Amino acid sequence: MSDQNKQSLLEKMRAKLSTRTTPAPAGREAAPAAHGGEACSFKQFADVKKIQIHKAVAKQWNIDSLYFLCHDGLARDTTTIDGREYLNFSTYDYLGLNGSPEINAAVVEALERHGSTASGSRPTSGERPPHRALERSLAAMYNAEDCVAFVSGHATNVWTIYQLFKKRDLVVYDSLAHNSIIQGAQFSGAVRMPYAHNDVEALDTLLTAERGHYKRCLIVTEGLFSMDGDTPNLPRLIELKKKHQCFLMVDEAHAVGVLGATGRGIAEHYGVDPAGVDIWMGTLSKTLCGCGGYVAGCAEMVECLKYLAPGFLYSVGMSPPVAAASKAALDMMLREPQRVRALQDIGRYCLDYARGKGLDTGRSEGHSIVPVMVGSSIEAAVLASRLFSKGVYVIPIIFPVVEERAARLRFFLSSHHTREQVRQVVDLVVQELPQVREQVAAMLEEQQQGDANDMQD
Ligand SMILES: Cc1ncc(COP(=O)(O)O)c(C=O)c1O
Repeated sequence: MSDQNKQSLLEKMRAKLSTRTTPAPAGREAAPAAHGGEACSFKQFADVKKIQIHKAVAKQWNIDSLYFLCHDGLARDTTTIDGREYLNFSTYDYLGLNGSPEINAAVVEALERHGSTASGSRPTSGERPPHRALERSLAAMYNAEDCVAFVSGHATNVWTIYQLFKKRDLVVYDSLAHNSIIQGAQFSGAVRMPYAHNDVEALDTLLTAERGHYKRCLIVTEGLFSMDGDTPNLPRLIELKKKHQCFLMVDEAHAVGVLGATGRGIAEHYGVDPAGVDIWMGTLSKTLCGCGGYVAGCAEMVECLKYLAPGFLYSVGMSPPVAAASKAALDMMLREPQRVRALQDIGRYCLDYARGKGLDTGRSEGHSIVPVMVGSSIEAAVLASRLFSKGVYVIPIIFPVVEERAARLRFFLSSHHTREQVRQVVDLVVQELPQVREQVAAMLEEQQQGDANDMQD
C-alpha cells in the first residue's frame, strides 16, 4: 500500500475543510444578514467543522479518542482512568515528584498562609514569599542574576520574545521549535526565519547572509526537543551567537530534570558555562510539578519583562501554593540526583530495546522522550487506540502537529518506569504494528472500492 493511498482519507477530509461554505464578503456593503445568520453562529466556523470531521473519521475507524480523558489519582508510571489501571507513557512528571509528601507539605503551608490566589498582578497587588523564593532558586540553577516566573509556560515564550524583540530585529529559530516560540516571534513583529532542525552549519550560513540587515538578532532553540527527543549542539550555538553578535535563547521545558548529572539541563549536559546563553526559559509544568514558566538571565532583561511584558504586567501572579510546589520540586531534584540517573537509565534502555526490536525511533537520543515513528496519522491513531484497549496509555502525534509521514507515538519516560514495563510496552507495539498496518490497508482498500463504485453510479 503506497503512502499516497494511506493518506487518501485524510486528504479528502482536508479537502472538505478547505471548502468554505460562505464566500468572503466582496465589500463593506455585505451586511451580516446577507449570510443567513451564519455570521453569528459558531456552528458555522470552519474550525468547528474541522473538529467535527476529525471526530467523525475517528468514529468511522473505530478509534478511541485519547484526548481529554479524566485520570484519577497520581499519573506516574501507571495511571487510573475510569477505574482501570494503565501503563502510562504520557506524563511530563519526569522525576516522579508529583504528590511527594515534601511538595504537598510546601503546598499546604503556602495555602494556609497565603491562600490559593495572588489576587492580582504582582506589580499592583503585591508578591508573596513563594514567588521570590522560587525565582531565586531558578536563577541560582543557571548562575543567573535574576529570574521571573509567569503563570503559563506557553505565555512565557510568547511574551518574552514579543517584549524583547521588535520590527527591525531578526528571530531565527530551529524549524522544530515549539509553537509558543513561533507565536512569540510572529507576535513580536520581528522578521522570522527558521533554520533546518539542529543544523548549525545551515544556521551559520543563514546568519552570514542575513544578520547584517537587522538591528538585533535572536537565536532560539530547545534544550531537549519535545517531539523527537534530541538535543541541540549548545557549544556550537554559543560560538555562533558570539560570531554573529546575536542573543541566544534556550527553552528548557523538557531538559530540566532530564539532562545533566543533577538535572540542571543542557548546559550541565555539555559542561558549558550557562552564561553563554542570554535567555534561559523553562516551564514549571513538567519536572517541577507546577504550572507556569520562567525566564532567567541578566537583571536588566528580567526587570524589563517584569515591568513591561503584558503577559506578566496585566496578568495575575502565580498562585502561591503552585510557586511553593515548584520550589520544593526543584529542591528535591537537586538533592536527589539518583532520580535523574534513574530516568537517564530507563530512557537509554527504552531506546536501545525499541531499536533492538526493529522499531524506528527517529532522532531520539534516549533521554526521556522516545518516539516510535509509525508513518501515517491514521496508523498512529489506530495503534494508540489498540494499545489503550490493552492497558497502555500513550498519545499519538499526528498531522498537523508533525508532518503526515512523521506521525508517531510519543513515549515519555519517568524515573518510576521499570525495565519490565518498558519491555512490556515495546513488545506490544512490535506485536500490534503489523496488524495495524494490515487493518488500515484493508480499510483504505475498502474505501477506494466504495469510491470507485460511486463514480460508476
Ligand atoms: C518546548 C516547550 N515549550 C513551552 C511549552 C509550554 O509550556 P506549558 O505547557 O507549561 O505552558 C511546552 C509545552 O509542553 C513545550 O514543550
